[in-house]
Amino acid sequence: MRLLVCGGAGFIGSTFARLRLNDHGDDVTVLDKLTYAGREENFHDLSGDERFHFRRGAIEDGEAVAAAIEAASPEAIVNFAAETHVDRSIAEPDAFVRTHALGTYVLLEAAREHGLRYLQVSTDEVYGSIDVGTFTEESPLRPSSPYSATKTGADLLVESYFHTYGLTTLICRGSNNYGPYQYPEKLIPLMILNALHGDPLPVYGDGMQVRNWIHSTDFAGAIGHVLEHGVPGEVYNAGGPDEEANIDVVRRIIELSGASESQIEHITDRPGHDRRYSLSSEKVRALGWAPRVRFDEGLADTVAWYRENSWWWEPVRSGDYRSYYERQYGRSLR
Ligand code: NAD
Ligand code: DAU
Repeated sequence: MRLLVCGGAGFIGSTFARLRLNDHGDDVTVLDKLTYAGREENFHDLSGDERFHFRRGAIEDGEAVAAAIEAASPEAIVNFAAETHVDRSIAEPDAFVRTHALGTYVLLEAAREHGLRYLQVSTDEVYGSIDVGTFTEESPLRPSSPYSATKTGADLLVESYFHTYGLTTLICRGSNNYGPYQYPEKLIPLMILNALHGDPLPVYGDGMQVRNWIHSTDFAGAIGHVLEHGVPGEVYNAGGPDEEANIDVVRRIIELSGASESQIEHITDRPGHDRRYSLSSEKVRALGWAPRVRFDEGLADTVAWYRENSWWWEPVRSGDYRSYYERQYGRSLR
């Protein structure tokens, strides 16, 4: 397939681009605004491949989208482009509204004009928090943060283009991803890098919030699977095989990195913090997809990757991320 991968310079989008080029022989054009989270380093190994192209541009910019479609002549658009950090959405929601509402609208219009298959990458956070049991695709949408509310709005807009215009749409909702190339504002890479540097490990509240972890290669695989085999107009959940409380994840990272439990610091909880996410993936499993990476093994590999790839995170940890960290946590990094 020829794919336009929006947001492909980010963590999961670049993993998806790598998978489609290397394992499926697709042509991939990435369209990405290169926000703080989008980095050309994320596809450093793909740049030499003649089937890979990169264009810098925002999804809310109709001209940039039209030019990318003209150049790539794609059969499908896969949209990863998003503001993705819940804490940033609480502090400054405006970019979340612009990218998720306006950006998704611009891409849907372009898909409609050119008759393209359209896949929206979405999240389990649209369902809100669940104390017991697991969310299916039929569960009500009850987002609780500006991040998840704007992602929900984007999903609803996508569904409206299926119902109203007959656009070939698909939505794939993932649970919490982890793996190489994840920006260190997120729990796992933040804790790994702080552990390796001897910085405090900031756990929100009691640390008993539960997340359903999926390795980024598994989520990228699920998205490709839905793109190829999904039924137009349908939503597919893709959850990881393991659920873990945050404090247990942090303790495991301490073991793997040789840090000390004394580095753990319980800090003020995130406002509106969702207690637990859990996704049922029966529907996508029935299409023939299953996650391959168990959390224990994937976490050990991820710690090793960050240990061995300081070239990737050193520029981040010494740049704007330092001031973000100070604003968010009220202290400096070492
Ligand atoms: P990320 O923050 O690492 O990357 C986001 C990418 O989108 C960056 O490259 C950024 O430059 C780009 N981008 C942002 N705004 C843009 C715009 N207006 N125009 C063009 N590009 C723009 O995010 P990620 O973790 O890779 O998440 C990718 C997608 O997967 C998102 O849609 C997210 O909601 C979804 N998702 C993420 C997770 C997770 O745990 N990380 C889980 C489920 C779903
Ligand atoms: O569930 C899917 C979602 O997972 C994605 O849609 C989001 O884009 C992604 O950011 C992620 O959201 P979370 O809020 O679950 O991820 P985060 O890594 O920010 O936090 C995971 C848990 O760890 C959450 O309960 C908050 C907690 N946490 C996080 C940070 C950054 C801490 O205790 N301390 C921290 O410093």
